[in-house]
Amino acid sequence: MKLQLPLLLLPLLLPLSAATAAATAAAAADSKVATADALQATLDALTAAVDFVSDNIDSVNLDGAIGLRMAEGQTKALLAHYWSRLPQGAAARLAELHSRAGRAANRAVQSVRRRTPVYYANAGNMIREHFWDTFYPARPLPRAAVRAADKDKDFDEKFSDDCIKEFYGPDGKSPGCSVSERCWRGLVLPTGLTGYSLTHQLFYLMNGVQAGCLSNLTAQARAHPPAGTDGSLAGVFDNFCARIFVEASKLETAGFPKPDRDLFMEQVGLCGLAGYPEFARWRWLPVLLSWQRANGCFGEFPGELINPSNFDPGLYGNYKRRRKRAEMRMPEGCLSHRTSVAIAGLTAYCRRLVETLAD
Ligand SMILES: *[C@@H]1O[C@H](CO)[C@@H](O)[C@H](O)[C@H]1NC(C)=O
Repeated sequence: MKLQLPLLLLPLLLPLSAATAAATAAAAADSKVATADALQATLDALTAAVDFVSDNIDSVNLDGAIGLRMAEGQTKALLAHYWSRLPQGAAARLAELHSRAGRAANRAVQSVRRRTPVYYANAGNMIREHFWDTFYPARPLPRAAVRAADKDKDFDEKFSDDCIKEFYGPDGKSPGCSVSERCWRGLVLPTGLTGYSLTHQLFYLMNGVQAGCLSNLTAQARAHPPAGTDGSLAGVFDNFCARIFVEASKLETAGFPKPDRDLFMEQVGLCGLAGYPEFARWRWLPVLLSWQRANGCFGEFPGELINPSNFDPGLYGNYKRRRKRAEMRMPEGCLSHRTSVAIAGLTAYCRRLVETLAD
């Protein structure tokens, strides 16, 4: 109280003198400098991660290429929106990252198509050019309605990918934008799922929006809204990300357990890109950066035990069928999915930092 009272009263007691104006300007400049520094650090980390993947392109799986496309697409969108309001150095670095990520993504697509043709035929749209250029407008995150979690249902990755595939016509390319009752019921209506099942509900909707099916999803959300949502598609996004935020915060409280860090980065990446800047919490940035290895990748943590079935090449798409997307080992203890979600998470920070600088 002793400390707080004078601070609180200060603006009431003093007219805005030249001195306080200067102090305010200095604080703002300080925070601009801090923001610019944080953007530098984030771009350094992103560039190193992209370069690592690029140097090891034949040990990337399909999921590993998603992060590259996100970095490519979102840096493009950020430049399109903010280039004129950014310091020149920052804009140039964004442009450089954009082209590096794009080149790496194109090579990853060739490699993935060659090594896993069946999986690629089913899910290749997720990593096609421009797929992650979509720029979701920033929105405040509402508070999550607290609901009892469903019994942790097993998550079937194949089901999720097949539902995403419905967005495309029989040729697998032109948007048909089908949303079957089975898929809506399985992937959108449940409001008690957690973990990767929940992030993949959001992933399904983002895929639909990006496939050009916004009006179809909007109509579905109006006709069959998930419990507790208002009949708008934005309301469904809000509901999912509000609950994901509660989970991410719980992971922080638990001290970021090693087996959950991959999920945590996926949460920050997906909801961050879906337009919720709150996910790029300032205090989580040093945490994410501390998980990066000197070679630029993100990998196994010391003492972490990863379920071997996550790597089972006999399962669909090289990934564990339940709960989590495919993991694949890369050289030097690095992991493909993990590096990809880290790139997604850092890209969400990149967006928030750029928007803060351009503000
Ligand atoms: C998706 O929406 C578009 C535009 O409203 C419509 O033309 C198309 O038929 C819809 N697709 C399906 C499968 O309902």
